Amino acid sequence: MSNDTEPTTLVLGGTGKTGRRVVERLRARGLPVRAGSRSGAPPFHWEDRSTWAPALRGAASAYVSYFPDLAVPGAPEAVGAFVEQALQSGTRRLVLLSGRGEEEAQRAERVLQDCGTDWTIVRCSWFSQNFSESYMLDSILAGEVALPAPDTPEPFVDAEDIADVAVMALTEDGHAGRLYELTGPRMLTFEAAVAEIAEASGRPIRFERVSMEEFAAGMAEQDVPDDEVWLLRYLFTEVLDGRNAHLNDGVQQALGREPVDFRDYAQRTAATGIWGAAR
Ligand SMILES: NC(=O)c1ccc[n+]([C@@H]2O[C@H](COP(=O)([O-])OP(=O)(O)OC[C@H]3O[C@@H](n4cnc5c(N)ncnc54)[C@H](OP(=O)(O)O)[C@@H]3O)[C@@H](O)[C@H]2O)c1
Repeated sequence: MSNDTEPTTLVLGGTGKTGRRVVERLRARGLPVRAGSRSGAPPFHWEDRSTWAPALRGAASAYVSYFPDLAVPGAPEAVGAFVEQALQSGTRRLVLLSGRGEEEAQRAERVLQDCGTDWTIVRCSWFSQNFSESYMLDSILAGEVALPAPDTPEPFVDAEDIADVAVMALTEDGHAGRLYELTGPRMLTFEAAVAEIAEASGRPIRFERVSMEEFAAGMAEQDVPDDEVWLLRYLFTEVLDGRNAHLNDGVQQALGREPVDFRDYAQRTAATGIWGAAR
């Protein structure tokens, strides 16, 4: 909760995969926080700049999670405009959630690096939670995951680790001017990740590798909007072309501990019952 007199932290994407966890952690510490999203109070819309100033009022710091993805054309410009507005509103500490190996994301990072106030960049691999809180959940529940994912392995990172790093950067000194590149501790293909989810949830889940054309056609049949299809095509081709097939030690650098392994994420998430039969 926040009132108009004490400084607060604005958490954009505050109901999303990382933002929700950042909000929970700040609240658990008794710190004022405002979740910024379309369902927030006041609401925040990336597309409607008139909503930005009310969301920023009294925000001494902000967690900037762009939607839908920093890879989308125009994202760096939107982040730049937001940062400018934040500085005008008196925000003095900014933490940007970014992605690895994405040209537009790296342009957005440069906006932050040049903004003239305290900044921290949390640059992440694919989130493990894409399998439980995002577009892959439905197909996992259906027991059949068909993706245009190449055999390139990815070091999936747990959103809990991302939130731990973000909260540290938002609340403690010593992280200004730092770029933490976060990955999980182990690389695995999408097929291997799905197999670990099947094992943890005790359910058979078939994985099929499909061509990008088959995938896009399936999405069009389900009336998925063109821009979402474009984004998934980009993520499954360029971001998974091998450029990101390596581990980074941002979690260790920031938190002084090992990142959460995908197997632990899968077991913990299966136990919630979200994937059906939890053992
Ligand atoms: N997913 C990954 O694997 C991954 C990896 C690396 C980097 N990233 C970066 O992480 C960022 C967030 O991605 P994500 O997948 O984790 O999404 P997410 O945060 O789970 O997205 C949902 C959040 O965005 C809010 N939202 C949706 N549309 C909005 C709009 N038009 N204006 C304002 N808020 C809106 C939602 O709340 P409401 O519905 O209430 O608006 C919700 O809080 C992206 O910039 C992406 O580049 C993602």
